[in-house]
Amino acid sequence: MAYLDIQNLSVTTVSPKGMVKLVNGVSFTVDRGEIMGIVGESGSGKTLTCSAMLSLLPNGMSVLADKMTLADADLLTTPPSQVRGKLISMIFQDPAAALNPVFSIHSQLNAVLRRHTKLDSTQRKDALHQLLSDVGLPDTQRVARSYPHELSGGMQQRVLIAMALSTGAQTLIADEPTTALDVTVQAQILELLKTLRTRLELTILFISHDLAVVSQVCDKVAVMRQGQIVEQGLVSTVLGQPQHAYTRALLASRLGGASKRGSLPTVTASLVEGAKTDG
Ligand SMILES: Nc1ncnc2c1ncn2[C@@H]1O[C@H](COP(=O)(O)OP(=O)(O)O)[C@@H](O)[C@H]1O
Ligand SMILES: [Mg+2]
Repeated sequence: MAYLDIQNLSVTTVSPKGMVKLVNGVSFTVDRGEIMGIVGESGSGKTLTCSAMLSLLPNGMSVLADKMTLADADLLTTPPSQVRGKLISMIFQDPAAALNPVFSIHSQLNAVLRRHTKLDSTQRKDALHQLLSDVGLPDTQRVARSYPHELSGGMQQRVLIAMALSTGAQTLIADEPTTALDVTVQAQILELLKTLRTRLELTILFISHDLAVVSQVCDKVAVMRQGQIVEQGLVSTVLGQPQHAYTRALLASRLGGASKRGSLPTVTASLVEGAKTDG
């Protein structure tokens, strides 16, 4: 049985023209400890797919699915409070917006630990420094005392990853976690996610509009377009022998350097070479 099993998931809303399926019959499975990528252009339904798992859909939208399970939990019936943070943590694109500017890192991380663990205040302090060090932050004392604006974008994203881990959730949804970061920092955060997956046996759903980024971090990938998965499989297979014209177009646009943040020619070239030999 798959660890995460999503079958025929749709997200619908009602428009003046009638019911619209923003996500339309999406199915995929993820094994424990795997990193699964969901890739597609903006508006293809990546975020809504993940929001449905956390019951975080905007007002007026509803979920339909044949099956949506994580380990032993039925995500269709488990109360959201027992899913968010307990089973699944989420990190977002813009770390600066996700952190509260008026509270120190210590205070924000401590609040999450207080809410999600039974640790006393001394244990929380130890846990807090351990978490900051687990996500590769140096001088955890100084970081804990800092306010978000005193940290770089990469450090802020590390803090958010620490916060996501602090709840003890075994599954992480990372929604475009590196899109707001420059290329070097992006690579470091991707390395961190891979390290944490191995060390903590985390299962990660990694969302991106960028196939090259997905190929650096994911084991499997699902390509989404207009609310549907058009193709999925091992990263080496999907990138090595893309079956769908849309996947080829995504790949081609990436190779052409049509990235918002500038191209990554060496990474992209080596990934395609690697994919060809692997596949
Ligand atoms: N709050 C909302 N109200 C109405 N439509 C929305 C809302 N959020 C997303 N959508 C629509 O649903 C579709 C999928 O959105 P989303 O999952 O956010 O795409 P992605 O994350 O792939 O960029 C898009 O067409 C978008 O316009
Ligand atoms: Mg999105």
